[in-house]
Order: sequence, then C-alpha cells, then structure tokens
Amino acid sequence: MKIAVIGTGYVGLVSGACFSGWGHDVVCMDKNAQKIASLERGVVPIYEPGLDELVERNFAAGRLRFTCDLADAVRGASVVFIAVGTPPRAGHGDADLSFVYMAARELASLIEDNAVIVIKSTVPVGTGDIVQKIIGSVRKAGSFSVASNPEFLREGVAIRDFLEPDRVVIGIEDDRARDVLTKLYGASLDLRRTPIVVTQRRTSELIKYAANAFLATKITFINELADLCEQVGSDVSHLALGVGLDKRIGTSFLNAGPGYGGSCFPKDTMALLRTAQDHGVALRIVEETVTANEARKRRMALKVVDALGGDVEDLTIAILGLTFKPDTDDMREAPSVPLIETLQRFGARIRAYDPAGIENARQVLSDVELHRDPYECARDADAVVVVTEWDDIRHLDLASLKAVMRQKILVDLRNAFEPGAAERTGFRVSGIGRPTVARHDVTTATPSSAALHVSAARKTDLAY
Ligand code: UDX
Repeated sequence: MKIAVIGTGYVGLVSGACFSGWGHDVVCMDKNAQKIASLERGVVPIYEPGLDELVERNFAAGRLRFTCDLADAVRGASVVFIAVGTPPRAGHGDADLSFVYMAARELASLIEDNAVIVIKSTVPVGTGDIVQKIIGSVRKAGSFSVASNPEFLREGVAIRDFLEPDRVVIGIEDDRARDVLTKLYGASLDLRRTPIVVTQRRTSELIKYAANAFLATKITFINELADLCEQVGSDVSHLALGVGLDKRIGTSFLNAGPGYGGSCFPKDTMALLRTAQDHGVALRIVEETVTANEARKRRMALKVVDALGGDVEDLTIAILGLTFKPDTDDMREAPSVPLIETLQRFGARIRAYDPAGIENARQVLSDVELHRDPYECARDADAVVVVTEWDDIRHLDLASLKAVMRQKILVDLRNAFEPGAAERTGFRVSGIGRPTVARHDVTTATPSSAALHVSAARKTDLAY
C-alpha cells in the first residue's frame, strides 16, 4: 500500500515508521524543513527508544521517505494519515484544530481519487464531519473517504504499543474506508490478540478521549487512596495489587505518584470537558479528576517541606527525574515543574538530574542547577526527591548517594525504592501512600501462582 503520513510528531513518525516496517511504501511529510532535513540525515528529532533504528532500517530499505512537499507525499497514496498536533488553545481548554483543517484544505486538491483520509490526531467528536465538508467543497462526493483511527501509543513504549496494541479503533462512514483500514491492520496484526473495533466516525473520535479520561481518573483514584493510606498506615502498592488483581479492575495504571502529566492526559481531559460543556452534559468525575490532579501536583512540594521539618529556606534539594515519565525527554505538564517552582518560592536551592530531559528542562525551569550525574546532583543536598522513576534512578546505589549528601532524607514520589532497604542504608524515607518504616515483610508471588500473600502493614508514625 502507498501511505502518506502528514505530521512527524510522536504519532506521525512512529506510525509512519511502523507502517513501513510492515512493508508499505510510506512518505512522511512535515512543514518543518529542519525536522525533515534531520530525518533525512537519519537523526530522529524526538527521544523514543527503538525509533532511530526503525527509521534507519526502513529509510535504507527505501520504504520510508521524508518530504516537506505535500503534493509529493500524497502522489499515488491510497491512504493519507493526518497526524498533526492538536495542542490546547490558550485560555480555552479545547483542542486547537487549525493544523488539522489546514491539512484538509491543502489535501483537498492533491489527493488521488478514492483516497482514504484518516485522522489519527486526537480530535474532538465531529472533526471528521468538518474535514469531510472541507474536502467535499473541492472534490466530488464519493470520490474520497474520511475515517477516524485514533492512536493509543504511550511515549517511551510507542513502538511496542503500535505493533502490539490492545485494540485498533476504526471509525468509518463508508465501505471503502472500512475495507482499506481493516486490510491495512488485519494483514499485519495478530487478530486473535488484537481486536479491531469498527464503528461510526463520531464514536471512534470519542473513544480516544474517553480512554484517556478513564486512565487519568484511575490514576487520580489511586493517588487519593494513597493519601488515605498515609493517614491510616496502609500501603498503597499492596492495596493497588489487592484491588487490581480483580480482573474487572486490572493492575495497570494504579501506580500512585505525584499526579499525571504529559502531552495527552491534561490536554485531553480538558478538551473532553469542553465538548461535554458545549453539549450541556456534566462529566463530574472527569471534572474532579482534573481539579484533584492539579491540586496534587502543587501539594507535592508540601510533602518535601514536611520531610525537611517544615522549612526549606536555604536548603538544597536534589530532584531526581524531571520528565513527566521515564523514557522520554518530554517535559510537558511534568509534575517536576510545579514542584520545583513551589520549593523555590519557599526559598530552597534546587539541583536536578534527568537522563534525557535536561535540554527541554532548560526551556521551562530557571535557577535550577542541572546535572548529568545523579551523584553529583545529590552532593551536599539536604534531601533527594525522586520525581520520575527512570530505571537508572531506581538502580542508584543508595549508600553512595547517602555518602555525598548533607542530610540523609529521601522523598520518593514514585515509590521507586523499597523503604526498608533505603532506611537500612540510613535514609529517612517518605514515600507515597506507604508507611515510612517497613515493619513488615511482604511476600508477593506472581499473580498466576495463586499463593499471593501480603502481610498487613501496621499503623506507623507517618508525619502527614
Ligand atoms: C497517554 C496514554 O496512555 C496513551 O494511550 C495516549 O495515546 C497518550 O497519552 P503518555 O502520555 O505517553 O500516554 O503516558 P502514560 O504512560 O499514559 O502516562 C501519563 C502520565 O500518567 C505520566 O505522568 C505517568 O507518570 C502517570 N501515571 C501513569 C501514573 O502516575 N501512574 C500510573 O499508574 C500510570
């Protein structure tokens, strides 16, 4: 199949590279000439594990090309994916669709007859109808199709998510779009493992927002339970396991932390609320999720202040992990930012370490001493605060970390360390939703072994 992909952000580039890996002839187009030039040199402009090799391999094989010229990209293409950004509109909360509509206007006169235009960008319900009208104002009805095919990939594991998705969602209004898209995915995915949900275009558009809102709610739920765990002396990790092993609930996305961030959950929950508001519907649970998450991100600074005895003025705090999650350089809506800004307002000096996010962090943080070595970052610090659970942060040698610090305080906002082990090293540990002192031994077996045993956590002397 000849495929054009418009937009080379996370979704566009990963999709284009993966489609070419399936043997299709793919052209990725972007207006940003610098990005295209860099891709042609084999330099992938985003940080995503495995993407460099995938792009390089398919580019070398001649299956993947890059261009700034839309006409060149869509020439001969039977499928055109629109994967441009839909950033939040400043002050509105809804998605800015100007890039989607611009692409539709430009595509209208360039696409081949019978081409299927597929919107992969996350767009509010009804966007496909508008794209259909825009193209229909130039081309004969029936000579093209507009479909929706939302993308559920996560940064950091984007390639695996694309190649082994839990499901593929296709929103169509005609048989041509159904046939082309079910063939495209059906030929390369194992359909016994990956169901394809074929539905109307409007439902497909809404599915993406509903999924993200549900996941954001799930995270917020466990975060609030973590607060309760701290008050009553329970351990949220065990609680999440005990609750999540109920198949109706599921164990994933129950890791309590400093609040969700990233380019999707905050933006998409707001956009969904906006859609609901426009249609006179109250999504109270999503509203509360958004409010609770924002408040939580700000509140994390108080946790650090408490751990340091109530005052951080003139103290040095080392932040470990800046990006909104591991395996990305993305700082969008990262919980580290409000945390650092609040601690700075309280008079703390901030040093920070991140394996990949330093360059992007420079754009959003000021007066922060940025380090490429975690131990250097922790030197003379009064506390280290784990904000992002990168693997290399999880595997830090706590004794070496402690050795270079002034006060031995570890605030673990991701529960990246076993509190018992950290305390035996000599740290005073404060985590999320767990007792400060590990007074109990926990035996966990794999869920399949049925012999799962978690001994009860006892009431502890939690400070908050
Ligand atoms: C998300 C969706 O998962 C994906 O399907 C969609 O296509 C895009 O948005 P992404 O933003 O890349 O993906 O990251 P994700 O792994 O979902 O994490 C989002 C945020 O939630 C991060 O800040 C992460 O730290 C937080 N999170 C996630 C938790 O705090 N706890 C969890 O259990 C899971």
